[in-house]
Amino acid sequence: MSAKILVVDDDANVQRLLTYTLKQEGYEVIVASDGAEGLRLWAAEEPALVLLDVSLPKLDGFQVAAKIRAEEGEAHHVPLIILTAEREVEQKVRALRAGADDFLIKPFHPAELLARIRSLLTRFAPREMLVGRPPLGRIHAFYGAKGGVGTTTIAINAAIALHRELGRKVVLVDGNLQFGDHRVFLDLGLDRKSIVDVVTAPSIDAELIRQVLVEHDSGVDLLLAPPSPETAELVTQEHISAILDQLRASYDDIVVDIDKRLDEVNLRVLDTADTIFVVMTADLSCLKNVRLVLETIGHLGYPEEKVRLVLNRSNAFTGISVKNAEGALRRTIDYQIVNEYRGAISALNAGAPFMFTKADSVLGRSLLEFARAIDKAMAAPAAARAVASGRH
Ligand SMILES: Nc1ncnc2c1ncn2[C@@H]1O[C@H](COP(=O)(O)OP(=O)(O)O)[C@@H](O)[C@H]1O
Ligand SMILES: [Mg+2]
Repeated sequence: MSAKILVVDDDANVQRLLTYTLKQEGYEVIVASDGAEGLRLWAAEEPALVLLDVSLPKLDGFQVAAKIRAEEGEAHHVPLIILTAEREVEQKVRALRAGADDFLIKPFHPAELLARIRSLLTRFAPREMLVGRPPLGRIHAFYGAKGGVGTTTIAINAAIALHRELGRKVVLVDGNLQFGDHRVFLDLGLDRKSIVDVVTAPSIDAELIRQVLVEHDSGVDLLLAPPSPETAELVTQEHISAILDQLRASYDDIVVDIDKRLDEVNLRVLDTADTIFVVMTADLSCLKNVRLVLETIGHLGYPEEKVRLVLNRSNAFTGISVKNAEGALRRTIDYQIVNEYRGAISALNAGAPFMFTKADSVLGRSLLEFARAIDKAMAAPAAARAVASGRH
């Protein structure tokens, strides 16, 4: 990922800070100190994104933005973020009117800037994926063989990686209906809409679901679990089917986080999913559960490749090696995620997933590798896969 970013700012300190932040993240950076030079570099270097300060010598940021928009032509759209020191709404309106896609008030946190950049780069990426191709409609069920093995951590961060790093359109469903904790992991209040708002409506259609989904800053859409456990029972397996059908029609990846219960609702999720990722750690009680689950799932007659084993915290010392675990289960472990307790727990407690704020950490890289692998393994569109597996 080495997109070229043009920074247009006359303040040498800001130039240095932005250059440092962006380079750290792996971007290539070019810098202009005034509006006219900014415009020249934009034309000459064709950057993937432009950061534009408002108060610039020669041409100000609004003028530069307007000129770029006037000159780039119909088929192009370079993402533009305007940076300003003023909080006035009027400034924001002017920026958007001049053709900016986003707007940041100084001083801002580097993480916020990077998040906005990634989101815009994904949104405007000149890849085939965004030009009207049908959604891939892949359903991934993340099933925890035991509580606390890291299912939610992996589901959330894989969803973010699929979106931000691989450019997929992603929705994340908290299928832990009683004690779902995506609100905690993602720092969202109990006032946000949830699956209860879907199932209590007279009929489930695309428009209703669109209204209930919560947009996370990472660009991943969320279908949250009920705010309290007692409303969970309102959700039936028919509801789940209707919801997943709707989501399949508009998303590339539908990531569903479920717990270990094999109740009707969870079984329906497992049934509908294209792939079931059984998340486990290398300890005896977990291995026992995985064995039982594999046996149960085996009776359901799914094709073998539908069930994948994900060993979380794979390099943690438990006295049971990957080889031992594979021996006990008599099958291979398909994916491994590294152990990094601090990174995982501090992201949880901060309400900011590491894939969003620290994609370059050890855990971030491990999750990205996982997301890449599952993306690749399922590259074929849903229709083709359904035919191949005899499902309709
Ligand atoms: N790869 C990992 N390395 C270290 N700690 C992890 C890892 N994945 C998850 N954790 C930690 O394990 C705990 C349980 O994670 P969680 O995702 O809530 O599990 P589950 O959804 O399976 O109950 C959390 O404290 C989380 O920070
Ligand atoms: Mg969980």
